[in-house]
Amino acid sequence: MPQILENISLKKFNTFGVEASARWFVEIRDEEELAELFEDKRWKSENLLVIGGGSNMLLTKDFDGLVIRMCIRGISNEISGDDIYVTAGAGEVWNDFVNYCVNRGFAGVENLSLIPGSVGASPIQNIGAYGVELKDVFHSCRAFEIGSGQIRRFDNKDCKFGYRESVFKSELKGKYIITSVTFRLSASVQLNISYGAITQELQNRKIENPTIKDVSQVVSHIRVSKLPDPSTIGNAGSFFKNPVVSVDKFRQLQSSFPDIVHFSVDNGMEKIAAGWMIEKLGWKGKTIGHVGTWKNQALVLVNHGNATGTELYDLSSEIISDVKSNFDIELQREVNII
Ligand code: EPU
Repeated sequence: MPQILENISLKKFNTFGVEASARWFVEIRDEEELAELFEDKRWKSENLLVIGGGSNMLLTKDFDGLVIRMCIRGISNEISGDDIYVTAGAGEVWNDFVNYCVNRGFAGVENLSLIPGSVGASPIQNIGAYGVELKDVFHSCRAFEIGSGQIRRFDNKDCKFGYRESVFKSELKGKYIITSVTFRLSASVQLNISYGAITQELQNRKIENPTIKDVSQVVSHIRVSKLPDPSTIGNAGSFFKNPVVSVDKFRQLQSSFPDIVHFSVDNGMEKIAAGWMIEKLGWKGKTIGHVGTWKNQALVLVNHGNATGTELYDLSSEIISDVKSNFDIELQREVNII
């Protein structure tokens, strides 16, 4: 039976580094421990908060319920022709998993190097960076159904992945706990280096025929130069999603803001760079009390030390209303607010 602790500080379990406590707290090391935990029916009716690396949440108050920290470890692989199936426990650190693949020459996740967080959290918001999304390499996952105590397997289609979206964030929210993820990677290297910043950095390094390792190193370099390191400056990566608008709406905006940064997406929609709008309104690098936006990336909110979750939340609300009144776009928070 996993040990349940009481009144535990969550400060070191969230990358914003804000103070909040959990009424109860438990660490889970395998699927059996999850089953044992929920044999006690009381937990099914308590508030539950499942955490991995704590890199995509903002705690705005103490959590009056049970925090379940997923610590299931282990990475293994199975080679089948050109395909390589790599299975990792939910509690593996995402970047350790990426390094495992990169070091073995398994292609597919090198663009996702250095993303903070855990493997188990990665499908929930379909993490993505530099032209690749988790859904491109996701094969399946195992998940514990809290209601029935059964393990269910989800394949790629079952997860209904979208931009920073999945079934685990919408219709099945709070119903399942992901215990492991299987990725389908490739032995034959087909690099995705079309993202401008990658192409540029490869040129700077005079690399003409990049390897998986080169791409991983270049992506890591770009991230380090743009994004604050959560171990020194509290943050949760992009705080907002990039809004997706109709072409009509986009054209209207473009006539008022000719330099607006945008990317075409499916179904004739346009994705607008939220960081650009936030910067345009003068928020980039601004500090208010203990909180602010990052000097090199306005989409990232930061804790300059001793900020509360509420201060960060209030800053995000101010930014949302400023963007709304100037661009008539309602930014959505990407980070989960607790
Ligand atoms: N931009 C600005 N000012 C800023 C930030 C961005 O003008 O302060 C403009 C620039 O023109 C830049 C463009 O926006 O070229 C895009 O910026 P960037 O490449 O940094 O990407 P992003 O759209 O801001 C998204 C993801 C990141 C991911 C990067 C790289 C979301 C919400 N964020 O950011 O993911 O690393 O692309 O692919 O989609 C995360 O989700 O936590 C995250 C960090």
